Amino acid sequence: MVDFKTIIKDFPILKRRINENKLIYFDNAATSQKPKVVIDALSNFYSNNNANIHRGVHTLSMEATYLYDEAKEKIAEFINAPNNNSIIFTRGTTESLNLIADSWGQSNLKESDSIVITELEHHSNIVPWQELIKKTKSKLRYIPINTDGTLNLANINNIITKNTKLISMTHVSNGIGTINNIKKIIKIAKSVGATTVIDAAQSVPHMPIDVSDLDCDFLTFSGHKMLAPTGIGVLYGKKELLESMPPYQKGGDMILEVTYDKATWNEIPFKFEAGTPNIAGAIGLGAATNYLMKIGMQNIRDHEIEITKYAYNNLMNVDGIEILGPENTDIRAGLISFNIPNIHPHDLGTFLDSKGIAIRTGHHCAMPLIKKLGHHSSARASFYLYNTNHEVDKFTAEINNSIKYFNNV
Ligand SMILES: Cc1ncc(COP(=O)(O)O)c(C=O)c1O
Repeated sequence: MVDFKTIIKDFPILKRRINENKLIYFDNAATSQKPKVVIDALSNFYSNNNANIHRGVHTLSMEATYLYDEAKEKIAEFINAPNNNSIIFTRGTTESLNLIADSWGQSNLKESDSIVITELEHHSNIVPWQELIKKTKSKLRYIPINTDGTLNLANINNIITKNTKLISMTHVSNGIGTINNIKKIIKIAKSVGATTVIDAAQSVPHMPIDVSDLDCDFLTFSGHKMLAPTGIGVLYGKKELLESMPPYQKGGDMILEVTYDKATWNEIPFKFEAGTPNIAGAIGLGAATNYLMKIGMQNIRDHEIEITKYAYNNLMNVDGIEILGPENTDIRAGLISFNIPNIHPHDLGTFLDSKGIAIRTGHHCAMPLIKKLGHHSSARASFYLYNTNHEVDKFTAEINNSIKYFNNV
């Protein structure tokens, strides 16, 4: 049995006071806080093992290489990837998606082809495809959403057709929290022979993910949203696909042989990791993965379901509130996006900050989605393993106080 009340002790920053209040950190969809084991992993690496990897014969270089490769093994285990070489370290989800668009996209798409995404996507799963269709003259099609922010699959057979070469979709919407039935869409994609990309930036940190069971072709996520440092992320890809793709960037480590006239490419994963990678970040991500695996991803998901239900029910009693996205926590991740009449989300965010509560306000890098739902912006509270119902009580009380405050100024 995991005691989630004690987990807060593992996170030094959560002792902070902000504007004379104990910090309540509800901005986890933007980035997560870091446990001491991750901070220590970085400090230990730089204090004891720092060197460049894959190129030195000296002790430090071999130690650094071992730690970097060990992190990759842990991540493969974490998402049940059949092969460590299917894990490519990138800067994060954004770079992973750009890698697929540039490398796979430019070599596989032609004019009659289409790419399918959904109306729920983060900008980083829209813009690379918008740019790719300009270069390949292929088309971009969207799976629409219903008013509750779930996917509308009524016309799916007219959207995913034999011309569809790629389907790239988010598992969990960062804007409104919808959990998509990705298994169902992957099956439909396979029936027309389309390649599948899952943007798992908001799911890998919060629930069990098994790429072998999903049978997706690619899956992307970011370390910083799962307790690891910024600047490190993952592209998982099926081995044969990665092997068939041209390199994304060119330089050191990704080559087999270079002459003054030409070069040949190294095998995967090296082919996609040009230059000195974020070695310390990768080791930090390995430590974060270990920490999450010890707690158990299903335990984390269950904890977030409990908090989200509690917060949803509390917030529903706030005067005039509009909550975006589905109500059912079977299809809602641990985040709640909302608007309160006559209070701009930025003003609410500033008010809550004065009480020590950190939330996100704005369009959440999902401008088309927020607009489609009839808003310009929203306030978003997003939860993680260290949050508690007690914090939700204080949060709801301060929202009610903000309504009194803004109606009196
Ligand atoms: C669903 C989703 N996709 C992609 C991204 C981009 O991630 P990053 O900024 O770490 O590259 C985010 C970040 O918020 C996200 O929530």
